[in-house]
Amino acid sequence: MRPILHRYMKHLCSAVGLAFLSTSLGSCRPDLPPTATGTSLAASTPLKTGKNTDYRTPPVRGPVPRNPDFAFSSDFSRKGGISFSRVPVSGKYIAMTFDDGPNPQNTPRLLDILRVRNIKATFYVIGRNVDLYPQIVRRTVAEGHEIGNHSYTHRLFTKLSDSEVRSDLTRCRDAVGRAAGVQPRTLRPPYGGLLQRQREMVFAEFGYPTILWNVDPLDWKRPGPSVVCARILSHTTAGSIVLAHDLHGSTVDAMPATLDGLLQRGFQFITVSQLLAMQAEPATTAHAAPGTPPLMPVSMGGADGQPLSSAP
Ligand code: NI
Repeated sequence: MRPILHRYMKHLCSAVGLAFLSTSLGSCRPDLPPTATGTSLAASTPLKTGKNTDYRTPPVRGPVPRNPDFAFSSDFSRKGGISFSRVPVSGKYIAMTFDDGPNPQNTPRLLDILRVRNIKATFYVIGRNVDLYPQIVRRTVAEGHEIGNHSYTHRLFTKLSDSEVRSDLTRCRDAVGRAAGVQPRTLRPPYGGLLQRQREMVFAEFGYPTILWNVDPLDWKRPGPSVVCARILSHTTAGSIVLAHDLHGSTVDAMPATLDGLLQRGFQFITVSQLLAMQAEPATTAHAAPGTPPLMPVSMGGADGQPLSSAP
């Protein structure tokens, strides 16, 4: 299965032209068990150490850079597009996105790091993790972050039928609703894999634009916090959508320096929906009929009777 998947993802990644993905599976690769060292390694061969499970982000000492308070609308237009890896905006606004959570150890730690910097991020949650840790999703929403749909089972959608895709997205959406009383606004497909036809179907039936990314530190390979930080700092530009995973402790370890570095470079953090709402109006929609309904209501304030799907 994996060689097939790998070939597919290589094809996909080259198709979307993401610089960091050209030789890899892409984001969201599931954790693999530690490789058996076997007997072929000489006794003197340095062995990789295991995960440093005791590491905790050092407490913040002294003032940290702080993201401004924003009251930008999250109402993005249905005519703005159905697929994004970045969003053209005029200011140095960016969206941090964290996939595959919630995670009972790392997500709360990340929330602490974000809160002290007044940064609102977007969390693409896996529905089955939401059902395991609903209280973390509740906290995430209560602290002003946005929740996106990352499917319930984290399977590659390009291998699924439309009804399977529909069911998987519905289960995740409903899990988020049960946990925190909100509806996801956007989709990040597992592994970034979604056919154009499927994107159109999801957009029509769920109202979700497909959100990819243009900055990928490949943190799932666990290159170490300093490398994750350096990759993000060197590739982020205005309108960037930055991919990371709160599944991994080392990613969260990288965040204090990463976020501070981005703030010091003048970037300001908003959610994906806010970034979409901010995009320059495409010429074709500049004269759209007044009253074109927004895709979703303003706030993350709760399940408020908005239509969940226009599926036939
Ligand atoms: Ni993922």
